[in-house]
Amino acid sequence: MMSHVGIIGTGRYLPENIMTNDDLSNLVDTSDEWIRTRTGIRERRISVGMNTSDLAYEAGSIALKNAGLKPEEIDLIICATITPDYFMPSCACIVQARLGAVNAAAFDLTAACTGMIYGMVTAEQFIKSGMYKNVLVIGAETLSKVLDWKDRSTCVLFGDGAGAVVLSNTKKGGMILATNLEADGSKYDHLTCSAIPLINPCVNTEDISASRLKMLGQPKIRMLGQEVFKYAVRTITDNLKAVLSKVNLKNDDIAYIIPHQANQRIIEQASKFIKIPIQKFFINLDRYGNTSAASIGIALDELAKSDKLSTGDKVILVGFGGGMTSGAVLLEWS
Ligand code: COA
Repeated sequence: MMSHVGIIGTGRYLPENIMTNDDLSNLVDTSDEWIRTRTGIRERRISVGMNTSDLAYEAGSIALKNAGLKPEEIDLIICATITPDYFMPSCACIVQARLGAVNAAAFDLTAACTGMIYGMVTAEQFIKSGMYKNVLVIGAETLSKVLDWKDRSTCVLFGDGAGAVVLSNTKKGGMILATNLEADGSKYDHLTCSAIPLINPCVNTEDISASRLKMLGQPKIRMLGQEVFKYAVRTITDNLKAVLSKVNLKNDDIAYIIPHQANQRIIEQASKFIKIPIQKFFINLDRYGNTSAASIGIALDELAKSDKLSTGDKVILVGFGGGMTSGAVLLEWS
């Protein structure tokens, strides 16, 4: 018998410190007007002192309480992040220890801004297979530490935060009806954040120019903005169509869409292309900017805890990001 997988709890955590567009105009040559009209972002949270695992722990523990589960009841923790505290250990292991989730396996997953979607689909497979019952998926980022604060075309876009969901083998909550995952590695250079360069005693660093050597080892986000914009609009549309067709639903059957919160204009264009009114798209990027893997979990928690959802509502989560990656999860709310 096919088992069902539902979201039984959600949580979010945003650092307290707010950075407005005006604050940013003191750092780089930009303006509130430019950022608002090109992106829709008004302010973002920038962490002071709390690293990714701290944000992840806070969001995860709220989601656990919301699900009514004890930490020992969690079988697996997946943390989706591109800004972990360490390469090793994983963010998920640090969260596992802090929560006291002593029975949980734990690992991190990298799918950039599609991280929450990839994490939820991975969790769904573990539950459907019967291996695990309760899985905590957290999307958490401190992008502020990998932003080039001198590059006005990227530093104005992003923010820090964490969102979390608990998935279980139940029809209750937000039951997963359909999923879709995609990747296009041929466009990997559209959105990057470098890691450790290959320098070791066998590499002759004299062959590397001084300026390149200085840049190496400083992970910073680099982006081809317009290419990413086009990819985002196309893949939101493609992924929405894919999940709808998998369960024979039509645009009108959908109550809400929670897109990855990158740019108001991306969402508006996707809304026009797919012909679903913009009012059905849940948007909070004006307050948080793009929090990468965290954004969909944060938005889902806000929507779930509002009075906007009714039993039977169909909700689609749809993400896109570095890799390039994209994906969607279609839920039925109860
Ligand atoms: N403030 C003021 N001017 C800025 C600026 C800023 N923060 N950032 C860029 N500009 C300038 C550029 O230097 C350029 O100036 P120029 O014409 O003198 O060269 C001008 O604005 C236009 O730049 P352009 O890159 O063409 O703007 P755009 O309309 O494409 O908007 C983005 C730029 C980044 C907002 C847009 O491409 C975008 O949102 N892309 C998707 C990014 C994204 O969502 N990434 C994450 C995905 S997970």
